[in-house]
Amino acid sequence: MEVALLGGTGAVGQRFVQILSSHPWFELAVITGKASVGKRYGEAVKWILEGEVPKEARELRVVENSLKNLRNVDLVFSALPSREARSFERELMHQGIPLVSNTSALRMDPLVPLVIPEVNPDHLALINKQKDLSIGPMAADPNCTTTVLVLPLKPLHDAYTLRRLNIASYQALSGAGYPGVPSYDIVDNVVPYIEGEEKKVRNETRKLLGIIEGNEIKMSDFDVQATCVRVPVLDAHLVAIHAEFEEEVDVNDAMKLLREFSSEPQRLNLPTAPRRPIYLREEKDRPQPRYDRNAGGGMSVTVGRLRRGLDSRSLLFVAVGHNTIRGAAGQAILLAELMKVKKLI
Ligand SMILES: NC(=O)c1ccc[n+]([C@@H]2O[C@H](COP(=O)([O-])OP(=O)(O)OC[C@H]3O[C@@H](n4cnc5c(N)ncnc54)[C@H](OP(=O)(O)O)[C@@H]3O)[C@@H](O)[C@H]2O)c1
Repeated sequence: MEVALLGGTGAVGQRFVQILSSHPWFELAVITGKASVGKRYGEAVKWILEGEVPKEARELRVVENSLKNLRNVDLVFSALPSREARSFERELMHQGIPLVSNTSALRMDPLVPLVIPEVNPDHLALINKQKDLSIGPMAADPNCTTTVLVLPLKPLHDAYTLRRLNIASYQALSGAGYPGVPSYDIVDNVVPYIEGEEKKVRNETRKLLGIIEGNEIKMSDFDVQATCVRVPVLDAHLVAIHAEFEEEVDVNDAMKLLREFSSEPQRLNLPTAPRRPIYLREEKDRPQPRYDRNAGGGMSVTVGRLRRGLDSRSLLFVAVGHNTIRGAAGQAILLAELMKVKKLI
């Protein structure tokens, strides 16, 4: 399939380019941008990832966001800033151009499935409703922090039913894009505020763990409280989680659930699916961003410090995941693979 990438020079765009350059099903044919329009990708991009700019992208000319430039591709990935994405993604959806978005623009739209492929692949049924309205297909993947949180919560929620969540996130610099946070603000410092993040974590978690009834998502109604903090780490978000459940929990059972979790992408052996979506570490000082961000090629979330809370219905643990791979480009590509196998695109 020939694919287009919106916002290809950014922190997430570069991850898309890197993963797509060796993808067995998707071939990068169009890259859009704003400041870089008209330049070859290789000269426009300030490459911030390891290695060279992939040769598959180097010679592509960056073009502007327009329907005309996207008419001939089979699928569009969006890595635009959300404010730029809002009206353009809606236009693509209404024009019937297949779209997988990584932005927050339409994540909470009732017509748009918000999907972590291992958590709620059944929500893709919303695309039937899009078809009835002659729009789409369009799907979105969640915010990076929400992904790192919800992937390990899924098997626990299935077993014990979440009642309340309190989380604190320690978020990497690449989560703010490039060039992102000024160095003067973050060296020798942490910043206890990330605009819009806490609301995204709350709303998206409840949508992801909601259930599909007919062609509608019924949001989960458990409480979510979040404090999101920027820390001087390059890649990977760490989330400290206090989860309260309706039922009593057993730490050893919870460990087994996390260790053995596997889902549809693994059964289907999708190209970007990690063999194990969750790794459980038992050392008392893991997971850590520096050592655990690349677990499963950056597609696995690593969990540790799992212990009982103050009462028998609560668990405390820590999760680490790569924000631009599992939390963004890698997950959007995995979602597109799932949609292709399900013949939705
Ligand atoms: N960073 C993360 O960890 C992460 C995780 C999950 C989701 N997201 C979401 O992913 C999106 C991209 O984030 P990022 O961190 O990659 O941001 P970024 O580094 O600031 O990159 C933004 C990109 O968008 C392009 N762009 C800006 N305005 C445009 C327009 N009007 N038309 C076409 N292209 C335009 C820029 O191109 P030029 O260089 O040509 O101007 C650049 O390639 C955001 O919506 C963000 O919320 C980010």
